[in-house]
Amino acid sequence: MRYESLTKEELQDALAAEKKRYNAFLKEKLSLDMSRGKPAAAQLDLGAPLLSALNKDMSFPKGTDYRNYGLLDGIPEMKKLFADLFDIPEEYVFVGGNSSLNLMYDMISDAMLTGVLGSTPWVRLPQKVKFICPVPGYDRHFNICEKLGIEMISVPMNEDGPDMDIVESLVATDPYIKGIWCVPRFSNPGGIVYSEEVVRRLATMKVAAPDFRIYYDNSYFVHAITEDAPELANIFRIAKEYDTEDRIYMFFSTSKITFAGSGVSMIAASPKNLLSIKEKMGWKTIGFNKVWQYAHYLYLQSADHVLAIMREQAKLIRPKFEIVLDAFNEAFGDSDTVTWNTPKGGYFICLKCMRGTAKAIWNMCKKAGLTITSAGASHPLHFDDSDSYLRIAPTYPSVEDLKKATEVLVTVVKIVTMETLIAK
Ligand SMILES: Cc1ncc(COP(=O)(O)O)c(C=O)c1O
Repeated sequence: MRYESLTKEELQDALAAEKKRYNAFLKEKLSLDMSRGKPAAAQLDLGAPLLSALNKDMSFPKGTDYRNYGLLDGIPEMKKLFADLFDIPEEYVFVGGNSSLNLMYDMISDAMLTGVLGSTPWVRLPQKVKFICPVPGYDRHFNICEKLGIEMISVPMNEDGPDMDIVESLVATDPYIKGIWCVPRFSNPGGIVYSEEVVRRLATMKVAAPDFRIYYDNSYFVHAITEDAPELANIFRIAKEYDTEDRIYMFFSTSKITFAGSGVSMIAASPKNLLSIKEKMGWKTIGFNKVWQYAHYLYLQSADHVLAIMREQAKLIRPKFEIVLDAFNEAFGDSDTVTWNTPKGGYFICLKCMRGTAKAIWNMCKKAGLTITSAGASHPLHFDDSDSYLRIAPTYPSVEDLKKATEVLVTVVKIVTMETLIAK
């Protein structure tokens, strides 16, 4: 329905009907959660062979016993698998532990305390350092900046990635801008895939700070849910051409391929950066869990097999996205005030509600027993000055729960939108 073009009387009637529905939901004492992008149990079940992978083969190849210390930067088999997946050289790959977010935090806190390739540690600079944060973005990225005292500069996301005119003009002149957060394929929460032009501009733009880095969080690189999902240009290949490879730290993990929070992570970086990463990692740990890395290799086998696993994952995820997207289309298909993206991969749908309504929607959902990610979470310091963005995560609930959760959400969005229009 096009709520914007209804008369106040028509709005009052429609509102009364939706309130009746909402009150019925209240009586159901629901407990539903669409808040975090977690895989459902059926997705995790796909990874079951990983649990018995090691029983098959405890004779480690190449004469190295992975049960012992050594190989700080990971086992060669996983290095090759990740290198093949991203079409980068194996010597660019550092294989880590269970969490890529942990690696991101490490890279930033290391830069704070010990600098980047010999630069002044950020904590010793006379001014606070700054990061560019494309919005809407991932709350945990912004949280790292907030907790480490990094000033965040919001830059709008376009359909093809961050607004590069703004990014370029900022980084070219301000040496205190030390980083930009990027989720280049199926961004969290917008589902945006950066265009080749955006990737090229990121790789080649002029930067004032020599220790500026692109924190390229490629978590959803292989998480297409439709056959026609756009590919991502190879940033390392472009950067090599322009001799700018040192500005890229690319992160990835198998959290949403095998087991969430119990997979294997990766940083990819130029040989110069990798040398420094290895040195600093060596201060913190003698090595990551190579036995689990090897189990992953035995299960994942090859880059092609990873893509085959992801096609199985997509079969489970796609119908869930469709439930939510169909419901949004039916309810708000012709509305100008409630809009959303139709992602071709990743874990999220970004719902853009009428200005000034997101918090009220969140509260009303909560009251009806539906948890969604808190309003504002997609912006630095939880401050969305438009109060309009909500992140919807359809993967975790069962199909039945998801249908109910979507009904509740749609009803609440309708109510708050109509109430706002009536009050105008
Ligand atoms: C964009 C993004 N990066 C990183 C992570 C966390 O990755 P990991 O489990 O490897 O720490 C998530 C999880 O939701 C995410 O959405």
